Amino acid sequence: MAPLHVPMRLLACAMLGFVTAEMRADDFPHYDLGTIPAWQDLASLRGARPVSQVLSKADYHHQLRALDIQQLYSAIATLMATSKPYWPADGPQDGDVASYAGLFARLAWHCSGSFRMINDTHAAGGCEGARQRHWPENEWRDNTNLDKARGLLAEVKLQFGDRVSWSDLMTFAGTVAIKASGGPAKKFCFGRLDDVSGDRSIPLGVEGVAQCYGSKFCKSNFECPNTFRWSEQNDTDHARCKIEQPDRLQASHSVGLIYVYPEGPELKTSAKDYKAYWVHNRSPRLSALEVRDTFRDRMGWTDRETVALIGGGHTLGRTHGNCNLTGTKWAQTPYNNVGPYFEATAGSLRGPTDGTCGTGPEAGFGKNTVSSGFEGPWTRSPSRWNYDFFDALLSEEWVPAKSPYGNDQWHTRNHTSEFAKTMRLTSDISLVADETYHKIVREYAADHAQFDADFADAWFKLVHRSEDHPHKDDLEQDAGICTSFEFVTQANFLP
Ligand code: HEM
Repeated sequence: MAPLHVPMRLLACAMLGFVTAEMRADDFPHYDLGTIPAWQDLASLRGARPVSQVLSKADYHHQLRALDIQQLYSAIATLMATSKPYWPADGPQDGDVASYAGLFARLAWHCSGSFRMINDTHAAGGCEGARQRHWPENEWRDNTNLDKARGLLAEVKLQFGDRVSWSDLMTFAGTVAIKASGGPAKKFCFGRLDDVSGDRSIPLGVEGVAQCYGSKFCKSNFECPNTFRWSEQNDTDHARCKIEQPDRLQASHSVGLIYVYPEGPELKTSAKDYKAYWVHNRSPRLSALEVRDTFRDRMGWTDRETVALIGGGHTLGRTHGNCNLTGTKWAQTPYNNVGPYFEATAGSLRGPTDGTCGTGPEAGFGKNTVSSGFEGPWTRSPSRWNYDFFDALLSEEWVPAKSPYGNDQWHTRNHTSEFAKTMRLTSDISLVADETYHKIVREYAADHAQFDADFADAWFKLVHRSEDHPHKDDLEQDAGICTSFEFVTQANFLP
């Protein structure tokens, strides 16, 4: 059945038998369930609950006792390996099998990585609350296209109903994605409650206003009140939110970027390591300072955990920026309610695809996706756990390059190298530009078992800390429903 907000002209197109990018919203069966502030808007259509029906903690913990964790694992692992026509899975364009592993892992990371440690007992953000489904998080440009991940997982949410909350589902899906791709995962605990609005994310940053429903919070902080550039940084390069912000809840640079600016600072021509012949002069050295500012000083990670998380996260999946939007309406202003940075917003008719890249039925899909604007995988087998990230970081010489979209990234100097089809972000290269990080990279490249163990521990901490449960074991003590994946016998779920 077509949703009520589909205009007549689209219904007419459907009847005439041709498909537009907008119409694909209707083909994404449970899209609206995953990407909502639905209790405010079209509640019955979108399948979310009104505030009065939200489960209490006691009720949810009671529901959890009926959850078959093994069945949930299988449902997610099967979904991960089943490419859907309405949002095709990555993998084939990089010579690997189709898998949503990267997409689901990024979903869990972006949901959890909003966590900010304020002091020993207080924190903000984290995935508990599942506020990524609500404004303002669903308008942060870092979250682009994660509405598709939630739309895919809505199928599982529908199957399990109240037995799994959205925040448990999103964090568990990322963990299953890693495990079912052959990666390390030791333990996972359930018990996260969902919020009915995104209000608790407002202190973390308000960027767009498309889904703000007339409340007092309807103001955009797109421009930081205090901006900052490194002394060696080009004066025309993006300004950053001042690193010494009083509340220190945003990431280093700007609202909407949850973590670190991936391109890193562009050097002035007078900087000592500036090279006129390079296509860009993004500085891994300065980028490392920004990575540490966010990961250690705002999120509370050690340097070791930082390296393990970035290296492990950038083992699965890829970046998306396989077209240039110059001259299209998508390039005009990012905050025009239709993209490309926004997720689909209620009433925007943008639907589950941007239609920003490519033509015909493949427009905006699969290899034509633009999310961040960077392009390419980090590893030779982005659907399966592997150790290319650190190995190639050390063995290759990485040189500045441009993505088709126009972003500044890094490729191997050797075009015939086995890693020639992989890429790196400046923030990835920063891990060899900083002496302390570099030492850890060398250790992980030499000892994969140590890397797996450290990544599994850091990932556990990542998805379990939140404003409601600031320490990694708080959730287990509260709800007490965990799995150590003892039922998983097949190391890699993929063919
Ligand atoms: C310096 C910190 C980081 C930066 C700047 C960064 C940046 C990015 C960017 C630009 C993309 C491409 C998004 C797209 O175009 O689809 C990406 C993808 C991804 N990131 Fe990160 N990231 C960081 C850390 C992490 C961490 C800590 C994790 C997990 C622990 C992670 C997991 C992922 C995954 C799994 C993808 C692949 C998404 C997909 O395949 O669709 N990242 N990251």
